Amino acid sequence: MAAFAQLHLMLSTFFLMLSILPSASASLKVDFYKTTCPSAEAIVRSAVDKAVSLNPGIAAGLIRMHFHDCFVRGCDGSVLLESTPGNPSERDHPANNPSLRGFHVIDEAKAQIEAECPHIVSCADILAFAARDSANKVGGINYAVPAGRRDGRVSIRDEASQLPLPTLNADQLIDNFRQKGLSADEMVTLSGAHSIGVSHCSSFSDRLHSFNATFPQDPSMDSKYATSLKPKCPPGSDNTVPLDASTPNRLDNKYYTELKNHRGLLTSDQTLLASPSTRPMVLTNAKYSSVWARKFAKAMVHMGSIDVLTGSQGEIRTRCSLVN
Ligand code: HEM
Ligand SMILES: *[C@@H]1O[C@H](CO)[C@@H](O)[C@H](O)[C@H]1NC(C)=O
Repeated sequence: MAAFAQLHLMLSTFFLMLSILPSASASLKVDFYKTTCPSAEAIVRSAVDKAVSLNPGIAAGLIRMHFHDCFVRGCDGSVLLESTPGNPSERDHPANNPSLRGFHVIDEAKAQIEAECPHIVSCADILAFAARDSANKVGGINYAVPAGRRDGRVSIRDEASQLPLPTLNADQLIDNFRQKGLSADEMVTLSGAHSIGVSHCSSFSDRLHSFNATFPQDPSMDSKYATSLKPKCPPGSDNTVPLDASTPNRLDNKYYTELKNHRGLLTSDQTLLASPSTRPMVLTNAKYSSVWARKFAKAMVHMGSIDVLTGSQGEIRTRCSLVN
């Protein structure tokens, strides 16, 4: 082989290795528990099935919980840890308490898995499986979840302030997601999770009652929609209403159609239509449901790889709400 070709091969091998090495997600693997705990994913699936059949809102809770785990200290199960005296945890940040739901499903799956294969399956992985199973049950969206995450030992309440606020505009949302390595298109795609579940009135009631000095009501919200929301959210109340009024229990692309009709509930939803940087993505997702569903699955996998602990990092918790 000519020296030049050999050098070229060496260099390209080197750069190929460089491009693989820094990505922690490269060490997550589909079927990670195939030999060590073959029933793990089936146990999670049946726990999710049972809970979501009783209350479809739990699917929304579990998908959101995975997001809130991944955006704070990576997908390390830190969102599951309870506060201890003197150490308030993420779970008690206003972004999570009182609205985050579905903890009992994770605890139940974990208890069954520990009975079968103790000390093998992480809580962070159980949560990633549960989010996938939820998306499957209420949206027919299926994807393989690369696993092998380890559980963190730290959860700090104030770090949950990294989660995006519902008052952000599109450029701020793009920036927030970029800081976690996710693109604008992934941000818009994942916002489609607001096709299910609910919001407390406090997350958007300014849009109904006290928008600004000129407009008491947000002019970017359809006025009939605003009128229908007002009695459900009188000033001072903190009831909950569906995020997607058209198909509140179905994970689908109707969320984007609702945005086109100015029926997005949160400022952070409606801004995706208003902003020229995200509007084309909203229109595409509204038009092509299967394209959106495929992108959603892919973006969930990508989100699930944020700053994961692997190998001998962290631990495998015995109970998901407590460090060992
Ligand atoms: C783009 C930035 C985002 C913002 C500002 C945001 C904000 C919010 C807020 C304020 C609520 C309502 C909480 C309440 O008041 O009860 C909510 C609910 C929800 N969010 Fe997001 N979110 C964002 C992205 C995401 C992502 C990426 C996902 C998942 C992939 C997600 C999934 C959900 C789900 C499923 C609910 C309903 C939860 C339930 O019914 O229990 N959100 N979000
Ligand atoms: C109120 O909001 C509208 C619509 O976003 C905007 O055009 C207007 O400038 C705002 N007025 C004040 C006083 O902030």
